[in-house]
Order: sequence, then structure tokens, then C-alpha cells
Amino acid sequence: MPFAAGPPRDELVVVATSPELASAAAAAIAADLRRAVADRGAASLVLAGGSTPRPVYELLAAAELPWDRIELFFGDERCVPPDHDDSNFAMVETCLLRALPGPPPAVHRIRGELGPRAAARAYDQVLRKHCEARGGWDVVLLGLGEDGHTASLFPAALPTEDGRLAAEGRAPVVPHERVTFTLRGLASCRQVVFLARGASKLPALRSVLASSPAQSGVPPAALVAGRRRWFVDLAALTGVS
Ligand code: 6PG
Repeated sequence: MPFAAGPPRDELVVVATSPELASAAAAAIAADLRRAVADRGAASLVLAGGSTPRPVYELLAAAELPWDRIELFFGDERCVPPDHDDSNFAMVETCLLRALPGPPPAVHRIRGELGPRAAARAYDQVLRKHCEARGGWDVVLLGLGEDGHTASLFPAALPTEDGRLAAEGRAPVVPHERVTFTLRGLASCRQVVFLARGASKLPALRSVLASSPAQSGVPPAALVAGRRRWFVDLAALTGVS
């Protein structure tokens, strides 16, 4: 039975500094993954792009997790080759995959180089197959853009879902063409971990936490269902760097 997250409910974990943010988030994700492996024999983690997760991935690489029992997915990807500077896969390969000891995890890369339409269609098939087999994902890590976007779900550019778990995204910044988990795909994730670091995220964070999905025009991150654990530093919460 596929997992279906309930209505959004937020939990805040506030830490003083950026290094503490990475440590707290990595510890929570590692605990969730260990619990999933203990309970179900395997675990799945959906990775965020951008810059905030980089130190989290470096800490996870050193966490001595059972990586051969863990499957990695991407919450979104830019439609660029996997060795491109803008590729989320390239960032994860550098910060996490290359640093892993022992047997590697299964990695489900979004083949952004195919272009948004073909890559989204292919990734949607991968996600559907996983969801049918495992009921969903154990943990999804998400970032927060200054405009309230998450993954590649951008304001005024939400993809038509039509039951899809992955779809084409369109960013207002280059690379414009993206592939992203849809809100329906994110609602199949048991644990949602959001990261918000730095004073620039204050307006978006406040807007998301004050929003209800029933309202119109709420930021895309506010539409993510389920229990949302926010790991934020004081700068993101107060606007004081
Ligand atoms: C991406 C991410 C995107 C990111 C936010 C925050 O592909 O860029 O998926 O949603 O999480 O833009 O980015 P920072 O962590 O760099 O602030």
C-alpha cells in the first residue's frame, strides 16, 4: 500500500550556526535510515540539490551507514549532463558518493541530459516502480529557495501532475529546464526534512510556516504534505547573520 502523507505539520529544529545545522540534519537522516533498514531491511533517501545540503552529505558519508541497503534518488535535477557544474548528481557524487567506503548504494540518477520531457517520463517510470514495490520513500531532503520553491517546484510554474510522481520543472534562473518530484511524489515520502540556512531564507521560511495549503498563492514548499522537520539556523529564523 503506497504511503500517503497527511496534512502538513511543521516541527522546527533551530540551531545557532551553519555547521550545527548540517550536523543536526545529518544525524536525523542517519537515524531515519537506520530505523528503516532495521524495520524493513532497506531504506530509500531522496536527495536535495543546491548548496545547503553539501556538508550534510559529507557528514552522511562518514556516518557508517549500511549503504548497500540504501537506495538514493534525487528530488530534482537540472537538464544538463551528469558532469556539468550545475548538475545535482555531480554535487552528490563529489560530496557523498566518492567518499563512501564499502559497497555503494543504488543510485537512481535523473538523466537530465535527455531533456525535460524524456527525462521526466523516464524518471516517473522509475519512481512508480519503486513506489509499487516499496510503498514510497523513507526520507526526502528538501531545500528552500528564497522564492519559496523546493526541489524544482517553482511559484507560478507548478507542473500539471496528472498522477505523475516526476514531471518537468521550469526555473526562473538558469538552468531553466529541470526535472522534479511532483507534490504527489513528495507525499509518498515518510519523513520530510527541510533545510533553511542563512538570513536570505527568512521571508520564504516565514511565508511557508504561516501558510495553509488551502490558501491560494502559497509558496510551493508550503504545499509539501506530511510531517515536515525543519532544520534552520538562527540567521534563517531571525534574519540576523
Ligand atoms: C536545486 C534544489 C533547490 C534548492 C533550493 C535551495 O536543484 O537547486 O533542488 O530546490 O534546494 O534552491 O538552494 P540552496 O541550498 O543553494 O540555498
